[in-house]
Amino acid sequence: MTKSETNADELRESVRRHYTGSALAVVEASGAGCGPCCGSEGKAEGLASEGGALFYDAVQREALPDAAVLASLGCGNPTAVTELAEGETVLDLGSGGGIDVILSARRVGPAGKAYGLDMTDEMLALARDNAAKAGVANVEFLKGLIEEVPLPEGSVDVVISNCVINLSTDKATVFAEIARVLRPGGRLGVSDIVAEDRLSAAERAERGSYVGCVAGALSRTEYIAGLEAAGFEDICVRFTHEFADGMHAAIVQANKPRQARGRQ
Ligand SMILES: C[S@@+](CC[C@H](N)C(=O)[O-])C[C@H]1O[C@@H](n2cnc3c(N)ncnc32)[C@H](O)[C@@H]1O
Repeated sequence: MTKSETNADELRESVRRHYTGSALAVVEASGAGCGPCCGSEGKAEGLASEGGALFYDAVQREALPDAAVLASLGCGNPTAVTELAEGETVLDLGSGGGIDVILSARRVGPAGKAYGLDMTDEMLALARDNAAKAGVANVEFLKGLIEEVPLPEGSVDVVISNCVINLSTDKATVFAEIARVLRPGGRLGVSDIVAEDRLSAAERAERGSYVGCVAGALSRTEYIAGLEAAGFEDICVRFTHEFADGMHAAIVQANKPRQARGRQ
């Protein structure tokens, strides 16, 4: 194993440990506030000190189990910016406590399906419990890595994700996996932390930790280039709010072409 593979593995394990702690904090102290949230460390404290639930409107929150709202650790609301139609199949990368999976499952209805994918056992247990409490049956939570999605090629209409891609140690592979599982014409709608282009990797790391969703964030230009390299089109990265100097919560949207490039 090379040194960089070892570093990537160690980083991923630190991410897993952090979010295991978040899931256990929600289970053990339901009602006492969220666990260590995405962006709740260092200079990025302002982002998610109330948890990711503040990005959901009152109607959405009231229709969810308390633990699903409490466990929300995102930096936006990908379900608010993603068109979903009845009967569609949705995949949420890094589904955490399941909030976006439950909301998506309701929107695609009984003929559709919402998958959540997460690597942390404690988050998966919390999400399954939340989905059962919410009474949604058209959901399935899968254990796995967003760098190795356990679904077949072309099996998903829409991929969503909320504050997770910045945590990946291999973002090019994540983008390639999203392109693989989406059907031709499929859509991507993501909330994530994105840096202004002027910030170097070292400057991003000064603004917050890796597990807190800051140090691993791509710049806007890197995000667009990564999605282009994976074959996406109609790419849009829109900053929604700044929470540290030059670091923003952002909405990222893109489409997989209906036909493979060169055959249009
Ligand atoms: C910041 S939380 C966001 C959870 C959820 N999307 C939300 O909005 O509440 C990050 C989640 O992504 C999961 N995660 C991080 N890196 C992952 C990876 N490489 N593969 C699969 N899951 C990952 C963590 O276990 C955690 O549940």
